[in-house]
Amino acid sequence: MLEGRVALVTGAGSGIGASCARALAEAGANVLVLDVNEQAADTVAAAIGGRAVVVDLADLSSVDTAMAGLEPDIVVNNAGVQHLALLHEFPPEQFTRLLDVMLQAPFRIARAALPRMYAQGWGRFVHITSIRGTRGDQRKAAYVAAKHGVEGLSKTIALEGATYGVTSNCISPAWVDTPLTHELATRQAAIRGTTAEAVMRDVMLGGAAIKELIDADEIAALVTHLCSPSARHTTGTSIPIDGGWLAG
Ligand SMILES: NC(=O)c1ccc[n+]([C@@H]2O[C@H](COP(=O)([O-])OP(=O)(O)OC[C@H]3O[C@@H](n4cnc5c(N)ncnc54)[C@H](O)[C@@H]3O)[C@@H](O)[C@H]2O)c1
Repeated sequence: MLEGRVALVTGAGSGIGASCARALAEAGANVLVLDVNEQAADTVAAAIGGRAVVVDLADLSSVDTAMAGLEPDIVVNNAGVQHLALLHEFPPEQFTRLLDVMLQAPFRIARAALPRMYAQGWGRFVHITSIRGTRGDQRKAAYVAAKHGVEGLSKTIALEGATYGVTSNCISPAWVDTPLTHELATRQAAIRGTTAEAVMRDVMLGGAAIKELIDADEIAALVTHLCSPSARHTTGTSIPIDGGWLAG
């Protein structure tokens, strides 16, 4: 289905990104496995017959340099990080770092990739945002701001790219079973003076109808669909995979 297409997946060394890289490779794409963690990028790239691209997305000039040598037809903006602090105590340097990795870098990547996509009349962007891309949360000012920003960036790409065969969509998951989720449960437990299991049950899954972490492969399956010919008119959307979280 995606034979001959080059797919760039950021944060592809772990979790959702690794699942997306695998699914896109299975669909026939040549996958660029971008991650700051060289070993993780190499491992995933070797497993799927892709190419590792080691870049720190917090270093925006490195992003520009890397993109000058890459020609993706598909971009999956997935890399993400979290910092937990109340707003009045939020370290400005952490705010900047999260915005750079999750909003500025996707802008730089899109800016570099779009002219070639326009020239060939085909391109796909999928942004892994979050239920926090449309809803606020305490202690997550930078994450919530970045994810809201990407939702807006995606809509703009969809509008400007529409006449060039370029689509852009967001997938907004609730809690997915990845290393990030387990690490956050542990960090939240320390803040709240409870256990990681209690945070997972009461906080993370408290608002979901289906009381289970989501499988990363479920996110990857939707990414692949959004890159397929049958999703040609699906653009400018944000599709939740949230176990019924937003229905409540
Ligand atoms: N896990 C969840 O429950 C969940 C829910 C909603 C949204 N998301 C979003 O999905 C995305 C992936 O999350 P995950 O749970 O798979 O995370 P993860 O921590 O398992 O993987 C993230 C990957 O991004 C890479 N990365 C981090 N900073 C980077 C940087 N500066 N430059 C390049 N690569 C970098 C890491 O090395 C890692 O391989 C994130 O954007 C996250 O916000 C996750």
